[in-house]
Amino acid sequence: MTRTVATLIGSLRGQSFNRKIARAIAAEAPEGLKFEEVEIGHLPFYNEDLESDPPQAWVDFRNKIKAADAVMFVTPEYNRSVPAALKNAIDVGSRPYGHAAFTGKPAAVVSSSQGPLGGFGANHHLRQSLTFFDMPVLQQPEMYLSGVGAWFDADGKLVRDDTRAFFGKFAQTFADWIERTAPRT
Ligand code: FNR
Repeated sequence: MTRTVATLIGSLRGQSFNRKIARAIAAEAPEGLKFEEVEIGHLPFYNEDLESDPPQAWVDFRNKIKAADAVMFVTPEYNRSVPAALKNAIDVGSRPYGHAAFTGKPAAVVSSSQGPLGGFGANHHLRQSLTFFDMPVLQQPEMYLSGVGAWFDADGKLVRDDTRAFFGKFAQTFADWIERTAPRT
């Protein structure tokens, strides 16, 4: 059975390190696990007034999350917290009230920075929101990735073998976590 993981990336930047990290993790996915990036940059800001006739972009986003077995968040830290585009996607996916697209889905949070902090603040602020959706969030390994500016070549390829092996272990651990915690249908 193939499990699909919706990957949400907290940066909209063309050369985003977080997108490169998400792809490097996806490249190490074990058999039976498939990562699919779900775009968030085009989602209109959440406004409850629009719920009577929700924007098609919201509807499509919610359906993509609902169709996935699990969610992986890969994000930078902006001003010690979650980037606005990602928080907006969470808010969009959280409604209509009581029908959050994220509900109960196993999740993993990966944060990164070019500096030394590894996005720790964003990582844990994000986890606070996921609690509300009753998402079982992988606890270990903790993925605060620091100094990521030196990890990729000009083509976006990961140049560190130790990191590639670590991403492989992480992907396997997440796959096992999904099997343990995914809602039984
Ligand atoms: C940052 N950056 C940053 N880094 C950090 O470690 N802690 C922080 O609080 C912030 N705050 C912050 C705010 C804003 C508005 C920007 C644009 C950047 C630096 C950030 O981690 C770095 O630019 C990353 O490379 C962004 O991720 P992508 O775009 O490479 O995926």
